[in-house]
Amino acid sequence: MASDRRDQAVRAAVEQGLLSEAQPVAALLDVAGIRASAASLRAAFAAVTDAPVLHAFAVKASPLAAVLALLRAEGIGAEVASPGELALARAAGVGPEHTVLDSPAKTPSELREALSLGIAVNADNPQELARVDALVSSAGSRSPLGLRVNPQIGRGAIGALSTATPTSKFGVALRDEGAREWVVRAYLDRPWLTRLHTHSGSQGMPLTLMAQGIRAVYELAEEINAAVGRQQIDTIDIGGGLPVNFASDEETPTFAEYAGLLAEQVPGLLDGRYGLVTEFGRSLLAKHGTVLARVEYAKTAGSRPIAVTHAGVQVATRTVYDPISWPLRIAAYDSKGIPKAGADVPQDIAGPACFAGDLLAEARPLPLLEQGDVIAALDTGAYYFSNHYGYNSLPRPGVYGFGAGADGSVRFATVRAPQSLEGIVSESGGDHPDALTGGV
Ligand SMILES: Cc1ncc(COP(=O)(O)O)c(C=O)c1O
Repeated sequence: MASDRRDQAVRAAVEQGLLSEAQPVAALLDVAGIRASAASLRAAFAAVTDAPVLHAFAVKASPLAAVLALLRAEGIGAEVASPGELALARAAGVGPEHTVLDSPAKTPSELREALSLGIAVNADNPQELARVDALVSSAGSRSPLGLRVNPQIGRGAIGALSTATPTSKFGVALRDEGAREWVVRAYLDRPWLTRLHTHSGSQGMPLTLMAQGIRAVYELAEEINAAVGRQQIDTIDIGGGLPVNFASDEETPTFAEYAGLLAEQVPGLLDGRYGLVTEFGRSLLAKHGTVLARVEYAKTAGSRPIAVTHAGVQVATRTVYDPISWPLRIAAYDSKGIPKAGADVPQDIAGPACFAGDLLAEARPLPLLEQGDVIAALDTGAYYFSNHYGYNSLPRPGVYGFGAGADGSVRFATVRAPQSLEGIVSESGGDHPDALTGGV
């Protein structure tokens, strides 16, 4: 998000009372930024292939109905990986023809539902494919069906997000003994198996390694089609995983760079014979989200200044538990939402949770924060505030989309209302307080 647009939005959020004593943390989404990213994704692939491309947003990156509906309006579908994500995509009006179901642990009833809706499904493993076999032979299906493979090309900088390691849990491990032959046979035996899927991301993977994974899958598709004697595989799902720059406002790498690299490294994939599915998540949303939080107290310990804020592990779980892999930029504002001036002082930006590691940033040089100031955690539009972690029964903050009104003022729309205390009690078994004292 451009810093001037962000500054305007922060000031308006403070002036319009989105942040208050009762709601000391709030999240903002830049609607124009999301639209621009969707358009640049579509343009990037339209520039390299004439074949049909379904861009399916990885719902896990921002499971918010209004975000999915906004993306749908921008021509982007949904990649879902749980019944909850599928329900959300449907609630947002994403049609079955624009929805793809991937996940490593689909139950028989999830598969049945997906096939009856006509949603595309990528089977993860031989056992799942056997379940799909049974459903196809009993009820048939108009779902496009595929198989996920792991090209085992190696890991990126973040082990927990590397899906193409030799022992990753996802897909059929293609280089394992006998696996490739098994995959080819699986397609020969199933004329209705028309897609091949891989996702070699995510954050921390070099683009060249991702392109290698896609090349491996393209070569497999060519081998299968040659073995079958016709183009049975008509669509390749290349997954998501484009990394995001968390170090500055610059949006890099771009979708165009990635599409250009694929055109260079895997030209046959883009020559029009294969339809494509993409599943980008983080790269569509991350730069367009900001968490705002009030500084409740400013204190020192061991002569280190500490700003105790309301944003911590509940909205920035990955950063708090793995700060080396997931550093976040923090911007400092005063109590009116105006960028704070002053010499940088190394200080900790702490969250509200009751454990010592609940820090958004450690010894971060920033103008010295004071009680009542506001901090902004930047680039948090994907996998942060949208993926709440309920430690200390901290409520899910409100999420507000913003855009410019006709008069140039900043206007907000509620994407998700802040969670109430009643909501917390209810989701924590508040309807069953006597469950354990009643003589079980
Ligand atoms: C199958 C699949 N597709 C797409 C994605 C989205 O990845 P990213 O948000 O890095 O683009 C993921 C992320 O975990 C995934 O597992």
